[in-house]
Amino acid sequence: PKVIYIEANGAQYDVDVAVGQNLMEAATENMIDGIIGECGGVCSCATCHLYVDPAWVSKMPPVDDMEESMLDMANDPQDNSRLGCQIEMTEELDGLIVRLPVSQF
Ligand code: FES
Repeated sequence: PKVIYIEANGAQYDVDVAVGQNLMEAATENMIDGIIGECGGVCSCATCHLYVDPAWVSKMPPVDDMEESMLDMANDPQDNSRLGCQIEMTEELDGLIVRLPVSQF
């Protein structure tokens, strides 16, 4: 399945993401600058912050308490904010569009 990452500057990347891989790992493996993933995916840095396209928000897995509190630390969190490391790819998410913040800090 594919995920479309759109950088704050408009650059778009169509990335094949393996089922079970998370969106932070897939982005860093593909050298997408807008995601950093400093903590390595253990939900303690918020530098994998991204915005889910409104059309996809209802299809996302729920936000747990830990993600919720880390999102408060993210730069400019919005209602559609998520942490990339907490979203695992599934077949159902094929075609998912996510936008990256201007900065992770
Ligand atoms: Fe650190 Fe997601 S990679 S919170």
